[in-house]
Amino acid sequence: VNYKTPKKRQEIIQILLNGLQRLEYRGYDSAGLAYDGEDEEIPIVVREVGTVACLEKAVYAELESKPLSVRERVFNSHVGIAHTRWATHGAPSIKNSHPHSSDPTHEFLVVHNGIITNYNPLKAMLVSKGYVFETETDTEVVAKLLKYFHDTIREDGEPPTFARLMMYVVHAIEGAFALLVKSRHYPNELVASKRGSPLVIGIKSETTFDKETFEVEASAPLLPDSDSRDFLLENGRLSNDVASLEYHHPSINDNNSTSTFFSSFSRPSKGLRFVLRKEAAKKMEFFFSSDPSAIIEHTNKVFYPEDNDVVYVKDGDMEVFCYSNEDPSIARNRLLSTIDLELEEIMKGRFEHFMLKEIYEQPESVQQTMRGRIHQLSNGQYEVQLGGIRDRFYDILRSNRMVFVACGTSYHACLACRQIIEELTELPVSVELASDFLDRRCPIFRSDVCIFVSQSGETAETLEALRYAKSHNALTVGVVNVVGSSIARLTDCGVHINAGCEIGVASTKVYTSQIVVLVMIALQLSADFRSKLRRREEIFQALISLPSKIETTLHLDSQMKKIASSLESRSSILLFGRGYQYATCLEAALKIKEVSYMHTEGIHAGELKHGPLALVDQDMPVILFVTRDSTARKVQNALQQVIARGGFRSMIVVCTEKDEETKSLKDKVELVQVPETVDCLQNLLNIIPFQLLSYHLAVQRGHNVDQPRNLAKSVTVE
Ligand code: G6P
Repeated sequence: VNYKTPKKRQEIIQILLNGLQRLEYRGYDSAGLAYDGEDEEIPIVVREVGTVACLEKAVYAELESKPLSVRERVFNSHVGIAHTRWATHGAPSIKNSHPHSSDPTHEFLVVHNGIITNYNPLKAMLVSKGYVFETETDTEVVAKLLKYFHDTIREDGEPPTFARLMMYVVHAIEGAFALLVKSRHYPNELVASKRGSPLVIGIKSETTFDKETFEVEASAPLLPDSDSRDFLLENGRLSNDVASLEYHHPSINDNNSTSTFFSSFSRPSKGLRFVLRKEAAKKMEFFFSSDPSAIIEHTNKVFYPEDNDVVYVKDGDMEVFCYSNEDPSIARNRLLSTIDLELEEIMKGRFEHFMLKEIYEQPESVQQTMRGRIHQLSNGQYEVQLGGIRDRFYDILRSNRMVFVACGTSYHACLACRQIIEELTELPVSVELASDFLDRRCPIFRSDVCIFVSQSGETAETLEALRYAKSHNALTVGVVNVVGSSIARLTDCGVHINAGCEIGVASTKVYTSQIVVLVMIALQLSADFRSKLRRREEIFQALISLPSKIETTLHLDSQMKKIASSLESRSSILLFGRGYQYATCLEAALKIKEVSYMHTEGIHAGELKHGPLALVDQDMPVILFVTRDSTARKVQNALQQVIARGGFRSMIVVCTEKDEETKSLKDKVELVQVPETVDCLQNLLNIIPFQLLSYHLAVQRGHNVDQPRNLAKSVTVE
């Protein structure tokens, strides 16, 4: 950073802490930050277990203990890094928190999001060189590797520049990462790189600037002739004993031995270098973050680096070194973007928790998802126009099948819509959990359309499944909420969910908007089917009245709060439903599990007699979704089966307001009456009371609703 007006240390620390608070929903078991100490002195690193609020206390306590010269120092230029963690390698503890350090004097400090998969052999090599590891994390290996390369590699007799040093590291590590590095050897400089994990850079400047402000030049290969892999193999003395990955390195093969050290990432033949033009770069501030919510209060101009880019900031200039054979004129197009996110969207407003705010936002978020996409034609009929898939309309329709791939709540949204997509498109539809899809190496053909549904657009398995489908030449479609996310960028075409920023870890408003998007996709694809005219009109009418019906459904809040009090101390809850409501059962059970930590199971009502009925007695809370669709009769059977087992004592029955038959049970069971809509959207209304129920259960059981234990909003590691 090169500030327009010098900044006080406290302001800088506060910017870092505020940024972490915005990102806290991504992980919150520990947090840390690093900033400059006194002139040329060791940087100050503060780390704490728990939330960002805990870190804040520790940071200010640390600051108070410093001399006045440190506390009140003013900077023209400064680099600070901060991190909030969701533990993968190593339990949450101060020592496992980021930033990680190369040595006790913090020559290199690193924050990392992702997993370094070859950390074991790298660690063994560094240990053999005398490095002492303090933590159980994979990240520490990056800090130590930076120091090792800095101390040993010489270019024209000098250590490499900070940017080149990072290139050596990026070339040596395997796995997924977004990395930020700060170093005493390179004051006021920062390097960053990413592969697989998200990274966005906000650029704040007094000058207006656009794509043209970047100069793009082709350059020679970015790494010298002997790259970091050769260097490690020759100087690091990697042995086969420490190796873990199958790879045959050519230079080693020459000697007839095998290295199993490195795998996929090979050195490209040339690179590109982008420079933010000097005059535009004056007095710039750069904000590096895993997602735009930490950036938006400073600037809406952003740059998304691509995988393996090395971004280098020095005294207010930014350069991007890109490992690619891209044509410079094409590469220029991927430069600056403007993000459309309002600060209020990421504030809680009058609500106690983000989750509750987002539940209550659903009339507007669903409206927002449909805005500008549903049109009435001159003949009175409706049509959907989803611009993002228009050009691939016939490719999708002529495909052999549609394969939906997702995780968690997004997977449930796919399940919720499978039936209507099959009905309207007449294509076979399969719905896959991304992890299982990958485990099975599911057969995929070029005649398939694979649709990747994700709120964040960054979920590791979904992203990996996308790469897999691309490698099998299938047409890939993204349905994502976060604009500019990896899935949005890597798919051939797609639809944005447009539900607005979702912060609560338990997804609510994005789930309902995902259903709307998937139903709209089915409507668009069936536009030419005359036989579906009446059915389509019925769905269009239902979509149009959806926001007001959601509004009415939200009036169930006080009833759900009471039900939560009656269930709060139970140890298990079972939910049964079938047809469109099967997904509702799974999603409602997931919501309750996520935030209230109660054992809850969503079960297909058709399976009741094949096992789960054994769990039903008069003490087991049972929730049953009864609706007036094609499965109505069969669901009534399930209802009778539960009643016959005495289960009605703790039974909650969900039905529509018009369902007189079920309403006659009102003295026997707790009835939750939801406004009626078309069958394929009834699940969207039915989930809302259970979003509220899970919220109230969590509050009543004293849990942190927005930060449930062990979970993260966006899981970017497999
Ligand atoms: C995590 C979150 C879930 C979410 C899932 C998929 O597990 O905790 O709430 O449903 O990831 O996330 P995505 O961003 O791909 O929809």
